[in-house]
Amino acid sequence: MSREPLIRVSDLTMHFRQYQGVIVRRLAHVTKAVDGVSFDIFPSETLGLVGESGCGKSTTGRCILQLHRPTSGEVLYKGQDLCKLSNRQMRPHRRDLQIIFQDPYSSLNPRMTIGSIIAEPLVTHHICPKVEIEERVKWLMNVVGLDPTFILRYAHEFSGGQRQRIGIARALALNPKFIVADEPISALDVSIQAQIMNLLCDLQEKFELTYLFIAHDLSAVKHISNRVAVMYLGRIVEIAPVDAIFEEPLHPYSQALISAVPVANPKIEARRKRIVLEGDVPSPSNPPSGCRFHTRCRHANKRCKTESPELTDAGGGHFVSCHMLDEGRIHDGLDEWRTMTRIPSIISGVDLDEPVAADGRPTTASVVGPRTGSLFDRDEPAPSIDSSEMT
Ligand SMILES: Nc1ncnc2c1ncn2[C@@H]1O[C@H](COP(=O)(O)OP(=O)(O)OP(=O)(O)O)[C@@H](O)[C@H]1O
Ligand code: SF4
Ligand SMILES: [Mg+2]
Repeated sequence: MSREPLIRVSDLTMHFRQYQGVIVRRLAHVTKAVDGVSFDIFPSETLGLVGESGCGKSTTGRCILQLHRPTSGEVLYKGQDLCKLSNRQMRPHRRDLQIIFQDPYSSLNPRMTIGSIIAEPLVTHHICPKVEIEERVKWLMNVVGLDPTFILRYAHEFSGGQRQRIGIARALALNPKFIVADEPISALDVSIQAQIMNLLCDLQEKFELTYLFIAHDLSAVKHISNRVAVMYLGRIVEIAPVDAIFEEPLHPYSQALISAVPVANPKIEARRKRIVLEGDVPSPSNPPSGCRFHTRCRHANKRCKTESPELTDAGGGHFVSCHMLDEGRIHDGLDEWRTMTRIPSIISGVDLDEPVAADGRPTTASVVGPRTGSLFDRDEPAPSIDSSEMT
């Protein structure tokens, strides 16, 4: 993977100003949805973005695409800061930067046929001559696994999974480089989720797409991502290669999230323990001082209440925002998490026949194989696609 990022996000903030009063408008509060977020996304990679509801995932995705104009910060793409471009200057970049929405029911216009919905971006951006549009739309429908003879149907005549395929075809119409997939599977049932995940993986391979994959389902994130960023209250608290995030989560918040992921091993699943975070998520209008997680963190000390930790390199492409790193106690925290959750190794697994210690952990954690197979194993061949056709 090239180390030159496709997208570089630097110190991005998005503060929503909320007003009240009908005659005299007064500023009621400012929601700091995204508050100083920095990360790179490399070509052809999938960066998973996870975190509790309201932590700012969608806002981050939308700010990258300039669907929200950020309050401050930079989004570098092809050497240009997208935040500084006018709408007209953004236009050519909009072809490259697309989004797949969470809700396939509301993201499609019910009054338009599927053909018109997929053709709309082609017409707006004058991608191909009018006579070729129908052919192109049928080709896109084929690519995403839809029957091209359905071209004159309306959105309500399709199932949820088919509607999401329509959304994907529309996003693909302009031959994008980067797609924000904002919870693309959360409104679908489990069997359809697997199909859509496999479709996204196939399309990424064929067309060298780069994804920002936003999801609540950590199993899905684990399956599709190369790296994962964990967000809490408008900030990235940890970012690392996918195996490191699931096997060695360093931030106490990531540890709580990972402890809730089901393990595909009945013996481990039966004895594991989840970490339940206490207290409510603080308001993004009035985030806690110091480390924003200190109100819910079992490791918080005096310093955490006043000093905000920086996202710091922990080695091996693993970055974490926690004072425990420079205080030399981050690995003690990791060991404690393993003991508490009784998950010695989610990814590498353990020998099932091994004796289990009193604390629930196997006496040694022997590896039984790499991360293979999953919920998302394909039961049908991928549609045959020729990437040269996308030009
Ligand atoms: N257009 C807006 N105007 C005002 N506040 C907004 C707007 N969009 C989002 N917010 C607020 O910003 C915060 C972050 O919202 P966002 O939708 O980015 O969260 P999220 O992490 O995507 O949540 P979810 O997982 O539920 O989709 C929330 O507090 C939300 O209420
Ligand atoms: S900085 Fe302190 S409060 Fe924040 S995650 Fe680390 S230990 Fe917990
Ligand atoms: Mg969202």
